[in-house]
Amino acid sequence: MRVGFYQYAPRFGAIQDNLDAVIDRLESVDCDLLVLPELAMSGYQFCSGEEVARLAESVPDGPTTQRLMELAKRRQCSIVVGLAEHHAGTLYNSAVLVGPLGCMGVYRKVHLFFEETLFFSPGNLGFQVWPIGDTRIGLLICFDWFYPEAARTLALMGADILCHPSNLVLPHCPDAMVTRCLENRVFSITANRIGEEARGDKPALRFIGKSEIISPSGNILHRSSETESELVLLDIDPMQARDKNLNPYNDLLRDRYPQYYK
Ligand code: ACM
Repeated sequence: MRVGFYQYAPRFGAIQDNLDAVIDRLESVDCDLLVLPELAMSGYQFCSGEEVARLAESVPDGPTTQRLMELAKRRQCSIVVGLAEHHAGTLYNSAVLVGPLGCMGVYRKVHLFFEETLFFSPGNLGFQVWPIGDTRIGLLICFDWFYPEAARTLALMGADILCHPSNLVLPHCPDAMVTRCLENRVFSITANRIGEEARGDKPALRFIGKSEIISPSGNILHRSSETESELVLLDIDPMQARDKNLNPYNDLLRDRYPQYYK
């Protein structure tokens, strides 16, 4: 299975221009699964709820879902993309999964970070796993990494690959995802953004790049730079994630003791 991510810097608020640029870059992409960053077309550092509402999109009718559905159909691939979603009068920080047959699903970020808590509601759909051929993928968004329960829940649901659109500003996540993969024996694809955003009178945010693909044994198959735009595609065997044996004596999920866990 050919999987990957696109790391880049969107321009704040310019959804159509960002879509044009991203789709132009991906027009000849040849892969089965591609992950794009969190809030990939709107930008991240909102100044007000009105601004979020103005940039939020409905799923599947909004421009980001529609344009990427068209690309997924042309390229016969699946794409995960982060966007600000409005649904039934509520704003969510969401990730949409589109494929050759259309929109397959949406995940709404459960663990909101910092000022996101001012602008978005916590996701109300829980965690979910979707099939792509024989492979099962689960979605997390950025700060969800901080809660090991999120990745564990997806592993228990049978996810082989964690797709992880991100807008990381703190340094720890790329290394922590090695542990999330090791402790669940799953692949992860973290698609982070690069660049800076300084909005209103707020301190500038600098995004750390370092998008990466990690294997079930915790190997970093690829980690991008902190500053450069990069489209990365790798061949993986997702079935490696089905083998939960650490050695002849330890089966990762069988050997849990949930009765002792809170
Ligand atoms: C984050 O959750 N965007 C850090």
